[in-house]
Amino acid sequence: MENNIQILIVDLGSQYTQIIRRSLRYLGYHSIIVPPSEALEWARVNKPKSIILSGGTINISDKNAPEISEEMISLGVPVLGICLGMQWMAYIHDEDAIQAVEEGKSYGGVEVAVDTKSKLFTGLNKSINAWSSHGDSVKKPPEGFTAIATSKNGTVLEAMECATKGLYAVQFHPEVEQTEDENIILNNFVANICGCVKDYDKANVLNEIREKTKKELGDGIAIIGVSGGVDSTTLAAILAPALGEQLKAFLIDTGGMRKDEVERVREIAKKAKINLQVIDKYKDKFIAEVGKTIDAEEKRANFRRVYGEVFQDVAKEYGATHMLQGTLATDLIESGSAGKSALIKTHHNVDLKLGLTELMPLADYFKFEVREMARELGLDVLVSGRQPFPGPGLYLRVVGTPVTAELLDVVREADAQVTEILKKHGVYDKIAQSIVALLGVNTVGVKGDGRVYGHSLVIRTVETVDFMTVKGFYLAPEICDEIISTLIKNPKIVRVFFDWTTKPPATTEFE
Ligand code: XMP
Repeated sequence: MENNIQILIVDLGSQYTQIIRRSLRYLGYHSIIVPPSEALEWARVNKPKSIILSGGTINISDKNAPEISEEMISLGVPVLGICLGMQWMAYIHDEDAIQAVEEGKSYGGVEVAVDTKSKLFTGLNKSINAWSSHGDSVKKPPEGFTAIATSKNGTVLEAMECATKGLYAVQFHPEVEQTEDENIILNNFVANICGCVKDYDKANVLNEIREKTKKELGDGIAIIGVSGGVDSTTLAAILAPALGEQLKAFLIDTGGMRKDEVERVREIAKKAKINLQVIDKYKDKFIAEVGKTIDAEEKRANFRRVYGEVFQDVAKEYGATHMLQGTLATDLIESGSAGKSALIKTHHNVDLKLGLTELMPLADYFKFEVREMARELGLDVLVSGRQPFPGPGLYLRVVGTPVTAELLDVVREADAQVTEILKKHGVYDKIAQSIVALLGVNTVGVKGDGRVYGHSLVIRTVETVDFMTVKGFYLAPEICDEIISTLIKNPKIVRVFFDWTTKPPATTEFE
């Protein structure tokens, strides 16, 4: 038995599967994610009270569509199908229920009219803004089911139920923050329809992480790279008191760090009582190896390789047996390592294969949860108030041209200036991430009386909770003006762009 977990999430391959789990934790429930091939057996042994079928990326009628046993809906346990989960539920009742026509497609926000008499939608407004991401949809409810929500324009069946059998399904994604339902739909399902009892307590999280890691480490020695970002720093701070001398923490200066970053990280580590060593002898190696390509994935691969080599040296020196990673659920999802979700980006610190046992104590958690942990550790100003910063750092912010020490300096200085302006105007803390990137297209400008052929920089400010989706954080014209007039003081910068494209289709970073 798996500790009496009440909620089984069957992973049909969606990018959002982990978010269902996170939203349930937020509501106070543990859950488990299981692949479709193991779901029925897991349910038989563990007798969950609630089953949720996630979304997925494959058409349900495809040959390689995830195979779910139809018995899943006959266990006497209520089932909620989300997106592909809904299509599967319709398909097994009626193979002609799915339409792949143009009107059935929907990506992004959709106005949905819901029937608030359904137990699934109790407490909701009659109309909600929901997030959808699907090519196919269900034409009409199969026999025995009734429609309980449709898109405002009537083209998409957005939800259906067969309440007598405990079967519910939604085409949109109630688990993501962009669906404006305050998690009411998931709560209605697990609490009111399934009768689950709250079993997840945020207060115990830090101790659970310490205990589990101690057990996994045994009497080994663990090394951890502390970047000064939220994830690795928080993890080192959580574990430092529990592991003592068994934990060796390092800051590797990669050459792609922000201005004054090394000093800042030293201070953070001191406050967090992490015994930190700074290693800067590999900087030139990083610039030479990572900077030579303009291909985003190759850059990450090179960064990862050099990072791995450096850690291998360090590990040898300290007789390490384990490597601790501050990897989050999002990183694993986007690296394609979580269940069946598609590869979006390679993360530099996932699955390094160093010959050390890798431990990822934060792999179940999302950014906002790790920020909460940091706050609990008293690191709010230094850690949780800071924006995330990618491992390969400024290397990802010199785009379309080989990265050199000089170009890194241009973005480093510009980043510091933009950060200062955003802070001065009181908006920095409202922005989830602000990015300054140098584009590899030089453009013509006029400075003084002369023609200049110089750099173009782009500023991207976004809002989000979990980085799975983001939207632009629009800056007031006077802030934009100040950013432009400050940056173009650098004689080599002639143009400044602003980018508020949503994710999807863009990602947060430029590459
Ligand atoms: P994207 O661009 O994927 O970014 O929407 C989501 C969040 O992840 C950060 N990010 C990375 N972090 N290594 C990291 O450690 C990476 O290769 C990487 N790529 C993106 C990004 O800054 C944002 O916070």
